Amino acid sequence: MSLRIRMVASRGLMEHDSRLPMCGIVGYIGSSEAAPILLDGLRRLEYRGYDSAGIAAANGSSVEIRKAVGRIQNLAHLIGEQPVHGSRGISHTRWATHGGVTGENAHPHTDQSGRLVLVHNGVIENYQKLREEMENEGHVFRSETDTEVLAHLIGRHLAQLGDASADTLVEAVRLALREIQGTYGIAVMHSDIPDLLLGARRGSPLVLGVGRGENFLASDVAALVNHTRDVVYLKDFEIVLLRPDSFHIQSLAGDGADYEISTVDFDAEEASKGDYPHFMLKEIYEQASTVRDAMRGRLSLEEATAKLGGVNMTPTQLREVERIVLIGCGTAYHAALVGEYLMESLACLPTEVEVASEFRYRNTPMGKYTLTFVISQSGETADTLAALRESQRKGHRTLGICNNVASTIARESDGGVYMHAGPEIGVAATKSFTSQVTILTLLSLLMGRIRNLSSSDGLRIIEELEKLPDKVAQVLAMNSHLPEVAARYANAHGMLFMGRQFQYPVALEAALKLKEISYMFCSGYPSAELKHGVIALINSDMPSVFIAPNDALFEKNASNIQEVRARKGPVIGVGTEGHRALEKITDDTLWVPAAPDFLMPVLTVIPLQLLAYHIAVARGCDVDKPRNLAKSVTVE
Ligand code: G6P
Repeated sequence: MSLRIRMVASRGLMEHDSRLPMCGIVGYIGSSEAAPILLDGLRRLEYRGYDSAGIAAANGSSVEIRKAVGRIQNLAHLIGEQPVHGSRGISHTRWATHGGVTGENAHPHTDQSGRLVLVHNGVIENYQKLREEMENEGHVFRSETDTEVLAHLIGRHLAQLGDASADTLVEAVRLALREIQGTYGIAVMHSDIPDLLLGARRGSPLVLGVGRGENFLASDVAALVNHTRDVVYLKDFEIVLLRPDSFHIQSLAGDGADYEISTVDFDAEEASKGDYPHFMLKEIYEQASTVRDAMRGRLSLEEATAKLGGVNMTPTQLREVERIVLIGCGTAYHAALVGEYLMESLACLPTEVEVASEFRYRNTPMGKYTLTFVISQSGETADTLAALRESQRKGHRTLGICNNVASTIARESDGGVYMHAGPEIGVAATKSFTSQVTILTLLSLLMGRIRNLSSSDGLRIIEELEKLPDKVAQVLAMNSHLPEVAARYANAHGMLFMGRQFQYPVALEAALKLKEISYMFCSGYPSAELKHGVIALINSDMPSVFIAPNDALFEKNASNIQEVRARKGPVIGVGTEGHRALEKITDDTLWVPAAPDFLMPVLTVIPLQLLAYHIAVARGCDVDKPRNLAKSVTVE
């Protein structure tokens, strides 16, 4: 066994199915009670989905299963009433794909004998055919899931192989996995095979946690860090056997597999709410330090540029770049849109932004000197990962801007820049947006200094960047009237967001924030688009937010505001502190300190994150876990 400190970079071994699974898996084998460890791990994976959850714990040869629809808390409550004991167990939190949100469809699932128990992330594409085959043989299925079919398939092979033992179980798993089409990350145990857990993956992340006298399995290191920092990232087509004192990794074909143990650098404390009522609010308030952390050690006064070691390209290679492509989903896509304005204005570089799900299927013409960046907080978003692979497949150097250093995108990209923002738990992304925009500003400075920016231009930009974290702290302190403003608009049916240039992507992001956590219909537009349709929506019940700092285009925004007011539309303005001209033409105003236009998005988005937060709280919504959403979207 080789011990290596730090993350291990590895390349994927295969073409992945695009429909990567959501859901979260946790497994434990050791000498402690499994249930509390599994519940704690599931809570940390709840961002992967929270439709239902379940646990199976084995005590000797008896296995008990508990499942509950809804949040992990419901499962914890059930286990409080009907405890499960045993020092071996597997568990799952589900985001429904095949089959509705019901107790029957919740994992774990069992085979025909009821003795083999399995949890699964992924999609078994040929499950209908396999199910029909086994139904004809007399198998009885209790759920509508593809997962139960896999449990039965393994059980069927096991029965054909004879007595249940570690060897026959591994063989049965191997045979079953060869028969299925699709993706999987699984954890399996059998009541008659004590001291054994089994995991396998194809296309869905699975991590082994190496402990002392105990071992763990999870779909994300977040579930393990309370117990161990030593992990092995399993590769596709690998099977792992876990016993309390040992583990063994082999390929699906049966050969021994190479692996390395990495040490995870992750502070579990960071993932707690502290004194804040919600993670989202805590994360909004962290932004003065996360913006600082995104720049830390990356600005060189001497060279008047940004130093981004992870980009790993020489000045000559950077000079050769003729076009930038920025790719992301959701909030990361909006950050990329700000990046487009930044690259064009600071580096004079043609830049294109693509939604990852479109890019992966488009045949975007990309010249030889195109540099691609995929932007993803989690580093696990299925479409962004597929876009990374598509860009690499076409021979382009593809860099990542990620927060999660242990993520698939971080490991598969050709280099990149980490956000260092700490865990973001609130489903609505906040601090990741400002970190991404900050990093895109550094990249634009770097690319600009190689092209059109003088060293004095570079120094001026650095001076402004250095002031940014303090300005973020000021924004957070200066809008104490925000909860009252939010209360005034909390019953609106919808809200429109408008901005120009750098503020247009902010309008999109602010609309996304409010709609995802308050369920109000919201939309963002370039201010001047108002007249091309949006204005039809304006009346006294439709508030508009105008992001209109005191810049060269203020008068243009002011005209658009007047057009809305003329139709009795209420207006909230976001502007530069003390700007009377804005205050006079709006019903409510939120302020940010003065800053150059290229840094404004990092400031103007913050009162709008807070507006969304306070409106959602006033409407009684679940701010950290909005309905139907998940933090990390690992299905296509
Ligand atoms: C989900 C989240 C969003 C996030 C998007 C992209 O939709 O709910 O908040 O912006 O995924 O996530 P990523 O991890 O790739 O930045």
